[in-house]
Amino acid sequence: MSGAPDNAIEVEHVTLELGGRAILNHASFTVRTGEFIGVLGPNGAGKTTLMRALLGLLPLSGGSIRVGGEAVVRGNPSIGYMPQIRSGLAGRRVRGRDFVTMAADGHRWGVPHAGAAIRADVDRVLDLVDAHALAARPLSELSGGERQRLLLAQCLLGNPKVLLLDEPLISLDPRHQTGVVDLVRRVQRELNITVLFSAHELNPLLNSLDRVLYLGNGRAALGTVDEVITKPVLSQLYGSPIDVMRVNGRIFVMSGDVEIDKLDHAHEEGDDGHEHEHDHGHEHGHDHAHKAKGKHTHV
Ligand SMILES: Nc1ncnc2c1ncn2[C@@H]1O[C@H](COP(=O)(O)OP(=O)(O)OP(=O)(O)O)[C@@H](O)[C@H]1O
Ligand SMILES: [Mg+2]
Repeated sequence: MSGAPDNAIEVEHVTLELGGRAILNHASFTVRTGEFIGVLGPNGAGKTTLMRALLGLLPLSGGSIRVGGEAVVRGNPSIGYMPQIRSGLAGRRVRGRDFVTMAADGHRWGVPHAGAAIRADVDRVLDLVDAHALAARPLSELSGGERQRLLLAQCLLGNPKVLLLDEPLISLDPRHQTGVVDLVRRVQRELNITVLFSAHELNPLLNSLDRVLYLGNGRAALGTVDEVITKPVLSQLYGSPIDVMRVNGRIFVMSGDVEIDKLDHAHEEGDDGHEHEHDHGHEHGHDHAHKAKGKHTHV
């Protein structure tokens, strides 16, 4: 794409602190435009915190971040964001199309009265994720995978250049996980956008990711799977001895005899309509994905 900077995200010596603790400590890495990056790391490693910093929702304690060559700004319209906590969607009677439109329309409750430009954009994103058949159905009748399709459509409103998808695979079975990853990959290639996709499992992403960003112990390692998913790199990031095993094209990250990259999978998600507060109590407060554009209600 003409005019797109080579680097989508530049993180230089960034320190992020929360509750007096450094979540990232002098971390540096550069994501190139058009890359699909799998963001991994144990619970609490800072995956969500990093995304919030890219959205300008968290002040940096040190260093600098540029997105699309520009310093971070809150409400950056070139970033689409799917927050990790997406509770309460399952019980909603709202039609799929209206649900997508709400994200373009300032999160108003009730049926949105969208203008022609918004309607055209909603059609465009529904096309992109192949969700026109879902658009007329109420959210409450859709499967988790189908709702995920609509959430992705919301993130694509306004043509963002960067997508931050925080654990889109949570609560999906393996077949639907693959479906979501393939969908994101297809859309990402079609639009030549940059994707940060956080997950607790590497395997569903293996065929799609360009590189992996692994966070742990305040550090960040960005590289190919072969460069990063190794015993020395992960042992350093986890701060304890880690084994990496490859079996039939799948990769298992083990600590002792426990597979750790998919530990603690079921600790949240509101598909049952209940909000499970994260153990560290983020104040996300969203209940659906949306464009970054000036719509954040949390700080
Ligand atoms: N508002 C806050 N105040 C203090 N500490 C916080 C706050 N939000 C997050 N933290 C802490 O920051 C650390 C990083 O949290 P973050 O949610 O970014 O991790 P994560 O990698 O996304 O984890 P998960 O895999 O569980 O989603 C955690 O130790 C968490 O307890
Ligand atoms: Mg998180």
